[in-house]
Amino acid sequence: MKIVAVVNQKGGVAKTTTTVNLGACLAERGMRTLLVDLDPQANMTTGLGVEWYNLPVALHSVLLDNEETPLKSILKRIEDLPLYLAPGHLDLAHVETILAPRPDSAYRLRNAFENHFEEFDYDWVLIDCPPSLGTLTQNAIVASSHLLIPTEPKYYAFAGMDTLNKMIVGLTKGLRFKVDLLGVLVTMYERGTKLHQTIAAEIRERFGDKVFETMIYKNVRLSESEVEGKPIILFDRKASGAQNYEALAEEILERVGMPHYNANELPFHQFKEIENHAN
Ligand SMILES: Nc1ncnc2c1ncn2[C@@H]1O[C@H](COP(=O)(O)OP(=O)(O)O)[C@@H](O)[C@H]1O
Ligand SMILES: [Mg+2]
Repeated sequence: MKIVAVVNQKGGVAKTTTTVNLGACLAERGMRTLLVDLDPQANMTTGLGVEWYNLPVALHSVLLDNEETPLKSILKRIEDLPLYLAPGHLDLAHVETILAPRPDSAYRLRNAFENHFEEFDYDWVLIDCPPSLGTLTQNAIVASSHLLIPTEPKYYAFAGMDTLNKMIVGLTKGLRFKVDLLGVLVTMYERGTKLHQTIAAEIRERFGDKVFETMIYKNVRLSESEVEGKPIILFDRKASGAQNYEALAEEILERVGMPHYNANELPFHQFKEIENHAN
């Protein structure tokens, strides 16, 4: 199981868009995929057509009291894919304040995962992080095996990455687990824009082969699919955004050396229990 935090303390760099659409592409390839919405803005939850404000429990409940609210009790199944969502909620913002003074504040998500994964198995877990480096993002990093860092091709992106890097080093120092950089993803790339070409080249120079070959081009269909509450591959498969995220999924699977397999042949019975809870 690969657990990937999609992280960058800057807002608007396509963290949420990447989490949703990469997740859908992986699930469509038959991989059991769990999406975790750690952002109090709950954009990913809304973007998948789930009304967080009507939910009696969501991810904040899991982080505050995992015995009372196990992860499986909040999961939603997305479309007909082996794709599951742990919905976010505005109250995640309070969780940050409540948890901050506690010594285990950064370990709540990891702990909830450990309990859940005793029973349920996934190929991929993707965590959508808020645009900050606070307690919630720390929870994501501590719970992850890998980081995926989306960035716009803009100069100030570099300063943010340095801060992020310092936090990761600080958080993982002295711990028994480590977290690897899965890759840096250039998003919102504009074809034929000289500045974007220059900056993308600089990002490659700086991060070397950690930068995905695949870039996500600017494509308004991605925003439209978000409004429709659907991943782009289920909204407009021909859009460049759909093709870019398909290519990213392929590149990532190659990078981690995971086999492709057919969704139809998978034993999903293990997930009956979640489906009974869902909706
Ligand atoms: N490749 C893209 N082309 C055009 N718009 C995009 C693209 N990726 C994301 N967006 C839009 O940009 C906005 C910010 O993206 P989002 O994924 O919410 O960023 P973050 O989660 O990092 O704050 C959203 O409205 C989203 O629909
Ligand atoms: Mg977001």
